[in-house]
Amino acid sequence: MNFVTIKNSQILEKYHHIFNHYLAQNTFNEAPSELYEPVNYILNLGGKRLRPLLVLMGANLFDDKFEKALPAAFAVEIFHNFTLLHDDIMDEAPLRRGKPTVHARFGTNTGILSGDVMLIQAYHFLNKIEPNDLKSKLFTIFNKMAIEVCEGQQYDMNFESRNDVTLDEYIRMIELKTSVLIAAAFQMGALIGGASDEDSFQLYEFGRNFGIAFQIQDDILDTFGDPEKFGKKVGGDIVQNKKTYLVLKSYELANASQRANLQQLMTTPTQDEIVKIETVRGVFQELDVLNYAQTAMYEFLEKSFKALDSTPLSIERKNELKEWANDLMLRQI
Ligand code: IPE
Ligand code: IPE
Ligand code: MG
Ligand code: MG
Ligand code: MG
Repeated sequence: MNFVTIKNSQILEKYHHIFNHYLAQNTFNEAPSELYEPVNYILNLGGKRLRPLLVLMGANLFDDKFEKALPAAFAVEIFHNFTLLHDDIMDEAPLRRGKPTVHARFGTNTGILSGDVMLIQAYHFLNKIEPNDLKSKLFTIFNKMAIEVCEGQQYDMNFESRNDVTLDEYIRMIELKTSVLIAAAFQMGALIGGASDEDSFQLYEFGRNFGIAFQIQDDILDTFGDPEKFGKKVGGDIVQNKKTYLVLKSYELANASQRANLQQLMTTPTQDEIVKIETVRGVFQELDVLNYAQTAMYEFLEKSFKALDSTPLSIERKNELKEWANDLMLRQI
């Protein structure tokens, strides 16, 4: 197989640059502005651009003309941002990327409708990929992924009112709500670059395990992140009674009185947010669950590396991807 060699890690900057240029060229200027302004607002708040980067990188692993993957990269980023718009409504989140969330700024009805149009725009851009048999494959992957994300989001909400969620159920939930998109982005990019189904599937497997690790770190940052850097409301998951790794591990390790205390906190409506966040964080610290969560995160990162090792990519490319994935586990945002 003929793989293109990445000269140095500056290539990641190159993907970002090319993607941001494509995004700027495709600003939504249509009427009514009340529908499209929130779309441009969220897309221009930035973010890490992780998923489009994976599409472009996936394509570039197999073809040096990776620019043909740009419409798919954009589709994936629009889809991701659509999920964030609706997720912020569901999670009653006030902040996103350091700025007011779309529904906080423009109202909930606008948040719903602008999110809807983004989902359709994502398909519109994916539809630009040629030839038709490749497009059809991409649509199959994308549709499966998008349905799974909805399923994951529903489990996430179901778990808010349950106190018997297992760690296995949690992992499955975050696999659905977060990691399948990361996995599909990488797989789609690889297919656009001309990868075989088998190679593209190994990249999916890398993304699936990496995505689980990524969401565990997101949960950690939601409780222990630096409010100056995180860009989202620290403690939001605690207020919403989210069943994160930290909560579930605490239930496992707690003594009877700690468990009763935590259950009471996580089931009754929040009276005083600050007190609740501080109390729950205190229980996490007593039980040292941060340590367990980080261990689990690195276990999934390790699994993602195993999937990568079974691809025929060069050692250099594997190492570059591993370094990139490892850096994301140390992120603050
Ligand atoms: C946020 O994703 C939602 C999760 C799945 C954790 P990111 O952390 O990739 O968000 P941005 O796009 O960089 O803001
Ligand atoms: C997000 O999970 C998953 C999706 C948006 C599908 P979170 O609710 O943890 O994401 P953040 O923390 O709001 O970014
Ligand atoms: Mg959220
Ligand atoms: Mg959520
Ligand atoms: Mg989160």
